[in-house]
Amino acid sequence: MTWEETIQMIRTKPEYEDLVRLAYFEAELPLNVTRFQKSDEFKETLKIISQFHPKAETILDIGSGNGISAVSFALEGYNVTAVEPDSSNTVGAGAIRELKAHYKLDSLQIFESLAEDIDFPDSSFDIVYIRQAMHHAHDLECFLKESVRVLKPGGLLLTIRDHVIYNQKDKEWFLENHPLQKFYQGENAFTTIEYRSAIQKAGATIIKELKYFDNVINYFPLNCDDLEKLKYEFDLKQRTRFNRKAGFLSKMPFTYEFYKLLFRKPSSLGLDETKVPGRMYSYIALKK
Ligand SMILES: C[S@@+](CC[C@H](N)C(=O)[O-])C[C@H]1O[C@@H](n2cnc3c(N)ncnc32)[C@H](O)[C@@H]1O
Repeated sequence: MTWEETIQMIRTKPEYEDLVRLAYFEAELPLNVTRFQKSDEFKETLKIISQFHPKAETILDIGSGNGISAVSFALEGYNVTAVEPDSSNTVGAGAIRELKAHYKLDSLQIFESLAEDIDFPDSSFDIVYIRQAMHHAHDLECFLKESVRVLKPGGLLLTIRDHVIYNQKDKEWFLENHPLQKFYQGENAFTTIEYRSAIQKAGATIIKELKYFDNVINYFPLNCDDLEKLKYEFDLKQRTRFNRKAGFLSKMPFTYEFYKLLFRKPSSLGLDETKVPGRMYSYIALKK
């Protein structure tokens, strides 16, 4: 099955209703844009842009899919170029063209190409934004080399929500657990060493590596309140277990707090990314 056929199929299956909505795959294309514009992820992305490149005017969106981000940036007033190798009207360039017409966006240009083959002149864009596409690279180093080549010096490279694996076994675990991999076989992921090295070799300096639980950009559809709830529930379980084991000691003030301080690893706050298959990371980098 192709990616397009997979999305068309899951749209008809009630068990995939949440996934279709949360991954912005609904057939009514403008609805996906409206929901993405209002998302915590997009708000955080705009914050990052205003922090690291407040004067940016032009954005190249690589691997734009059905255009949620390219259109949202254009609606924010940026001059946007979308690059997408898939021509389909469901999840590719055809869908972006439909949205461009719907919103009457002269400030959005659309090209059908792989990142590895883009032929824009050097130093063309203020920002290169890549959402959930870098991990699909056929050649990660070439993908990044081209993405950074077309950035202006000092320009901002934002790679968003890419799957991270720790090793081959972890990759197999991720692929087994990916809800759509069994249909289209197109998933992939790299290690952080591979991402970092490809970004740096391409000529960009990494300013921040956002790990899975560092930012809602990665852990969406969870939000900050969900994380606090997870931490609270985990702590409650730990405290009950501690009280049982510590017996009378647990009655003394602050014993549990001391125990936490001395013996609990950060991952044991209940937010343990190793338990999330193919957890996603994002990178903020600037071209030298
Ligand atoms: C998971 S989708 C993400 C789409 C969109 N950025 C989004 O976040 O909704 C990955 C996209 O990357 C595109 N893609 C795959 N390999 C690519 C490559 N080598 N260069 C550019 N885009 C690629 C796919 O066609 C697909 O549209």
